[in-house]
Amino acid sequence: MNSATLQPDFTLEAVFESLTSLPVFPKVVHQVMKMLDDPDVTNKEIAQVLKFDPGLTANILKITNSAFFGVQQQVNDLDTALALLGHQKLREVLVTGAAMPFLARNLSGYEMSHQDLWIHSVGCAVISEAVARAVGFGDESGLYTAALLHDIGKIVLDIYIGPRLREVLILAKQEEISFSEAEWRVIGTDHALVGASILKQWEFPPDISRAVRRHHDPDLFIQDELSACLAISNIVAIQLGLGVGADGFRYCLDERLTDRFGLSRQDLYAIYGEALASYERAQDLFGILLGDT
Ligand SMILES: [Fe+2]
Repeated sequence: MNSATLQPDFTLEAVFESLTSLPVFPKVVHQVMKMLDDPDVTNKEIAQVLKFDPGLTANILKITNSAFFGVQQQVNDLDTALALLGHQKLREVLVTGAAMPFLARNLSGYEMSHQDLWIHSVGCAVISEAVARAVGFGDESGLYTAALLHDIGKIVLDIYIGPRLREVLILAKQEEISFSEAEWRVIGTDHALVGASILKQWEFPPDISRAVRRHHDPDLFIQDELSACLAISNIVAIQLGLGVGADGFRYCLDERLTDRFGLSRQDLYAIYGEALASYERAQDLFGILLGDT
């Protein structure tokens, strides 16, 4: 790292120390996720826990009312939302509602608007369902969460990348390397590692933080299914142009991913087709922030 061109507080220590000042992810999410592992848990028991977090409850209602989650009626209270969603969809709505305040950020360092990180993250999450089906991956809920939070490191790294963005982009172009690899060379870390550190701090399961750590590194993401599914979902979201910033054109589909799952060109076309359909269905979910601006 060329420290001569860095400002004094632009050190890796500063980056990782700044994680501690992030707000905590609502603990009630992990509590309810654990409850949902028990097949005998009732909606009443879940509602009793969620009602302690009115902000999260409000977001759950907003998201439940989006067409993407397929609830056919206007839902105004938590009990009805829980009854209509079912436990599998509740996991997704819950983590999406809790992540919303963190993803609604203007990331000027990455040249991403107020809505871009939200659109990219939600887009990747809804696309991940199509990817999971195509490759027969069983942990759809874990993949959805990893996809939703895969770029969370950008909310911390944004202020550090901003002053050096041009340098990162020029390096990526000249050396024909990915944006995250250029981040490593210029800053000394990347948003994937920072994101994984955030998720550890927020007490997410290790397989989810590991997938986030691996999502841009072909040598790593081919090592486990969750990471590989996340990497495919992310590339599809990027190629569909969902909320991409300055880094969007510096990533491409690594053929080791298609080899790992034995995906033919036709399989890939099918994934893109399904991803596009998910994208269409999720339009009102992407726009949910408009009411907050
Ligand atoms: Fe990323």
